[in-house]
Amino acid sequence: MDSPRRSDASSPAEPCSPVCVDTPATQSSVLFDGNLDDLLQDFPLRQYILVTGGLGFIGSHTTLELLKASYNVIVIDNLSNSFQSVFDRIQHLAQKHHDQQGTKMPALHLAAHDYRDTAALRELLDQYQVESRWGSPRSKISGVIHFAAYKAVEESIRNPLKYYANNVSGLIDFATTLGEYGIKTFIFSSSATVYGTLATSGLPLKEELCAHKDEIFHGADGVGQTIRAGSTGITNPYGRTKWMCEAILADLAASDPEWTIVALRYFNPIGCDESGLLGEDPKQTPTNLLPVVVKVMTGEYKELSMFGTDWETEDGTAVRDFIHVTDLARGHIAALDVANERKLVENFRAFNLGTGRGHSVKEVVDAMESVSSKRIPVKAAPRRPGDVGACVAVADRSEQELRWKTEKSLTDACGSLCKFLEVSGVPL
Ligand code: UD1
Repeated sequence: MDSPRRSDASSPAEPCSPVCVDTPATQSSVLFDGNLDDLLQDFPLRQYILVTGGLGFIGSHTTLELLKASYNVIVIDNLSNSFQSVFDRIQHLAQKHHDQQGTKMPALHLAAHDYRDTAALRELLDQYQVESRWGSPRSKISGVIHFAAYKAVEESIRNPLKYYANNVSGLIDFATTLGEYGIKTFIFSSSATVYGTLATSGLPLKEELCAHKDEIFHGADGVGQTIRAGSTGITNPYGRTKWMCEAILADLAASDPEWTIVALRYFNPIGCDESGLLGEDPKQTPTNLLPVVVKVMTGEYKELSMFGTDWETEDGTAVRDFIHVTDLARGHIAALDVANERKLVENFRAFNLGTGRGHSVKEVVDAMESVSSKRIPVKAAPRRPGDVGACVAVADRSEQELRWKTEKSLTDACGSLCKFLEVSGVPL
């Protein structure tokens, strides 16, 4: 583990020194202790953000955007579904960004262990404790973004306990430890899957439709109605873990006003960083649409099975709200900023992260064919168990309260994936 104080990720480990200050009085002792250089080097003193699963698909893009925004980042990742090389690529891209901007590269550290390894977690958190002459120590970590979780729907149906153990029990232990260290700003990686079959109810998918306390919901006609707390028709154990985690976090926030917790409900993240250096590169066999499309483009798969061509949609294929992963990553920073400014409407708040616009599976294939100038063979296949016909966000709450909205299009996402293949040296 690298020193938390250095901006150089390769610097050796060392204990927390008095440079970790929290009052003017302790600052003066720092000057006399001869640590002014360190202090100036670290100026402006940005916060550390702890990112679990920070080398995965969404995690790696978020880590990069955090570094670009000058946050120091500590990544916890057990590399179960990611690669060490992703870490080097993030560092390279962030460094390049800061070189171009003439700004200082923040710190990036990797703790390569499971987020559930509480002993390793404590050892890590101890290094970021700020010694104080007054009161108890506090942490230099001002927020956590928690991505680490299992996410394969089909596997969750076959092996639910594995999902409940990692995603739910793991979260409980993790939050308990964070609370003990006074780290209480928490961004949770949730999913549109929590809407379950509400996605096809015809009702606009607003956050209050699926909440942890009773809320007033305004439908398309503008008439308000009370929606009871709860979720309806979640289709698989993976989805239930996300809902349960949200519920646990909502209860935690209600029990302790010091917690500020945001649940981000992702719609369908696609694409990759425009450099083409950070793609969706899971160790496990992909099941999501775009990774499968990419495998067809590279010839690894003969054709794309379109699961369901008889949905009640314009072209019969399923409709999703595909959001560029870079937009999604920036949504986390918006959430973190609003949470740390303590400007959330409530200290637990859920937000949809989507574009508000749907595209069908067929439209995605057409867009990719047009961007890559490559034909993508498809065949009609039966509906996949657990799928819904359409799932599109209402993204108004994120826009209003997080001051965030998407900027990139489906074409941008397809272009970035072609770039990823080009950079990876895969002939199309
Ligand atoms: C899935 C998960 C969701 C998770 C999200 C993460 C299910 C039921 N839901 O959403 O919980 O949060 O991934 O990204 O799996 N498709 C094909 N052929 C393929 C692959 C996909 O036609 O080879 C279709 C699917 O049937 C679906 C659409 O493409 O209609 C999108 O599929 P996918 O990318 O797997 O995402 P979701 O199913 O929406």
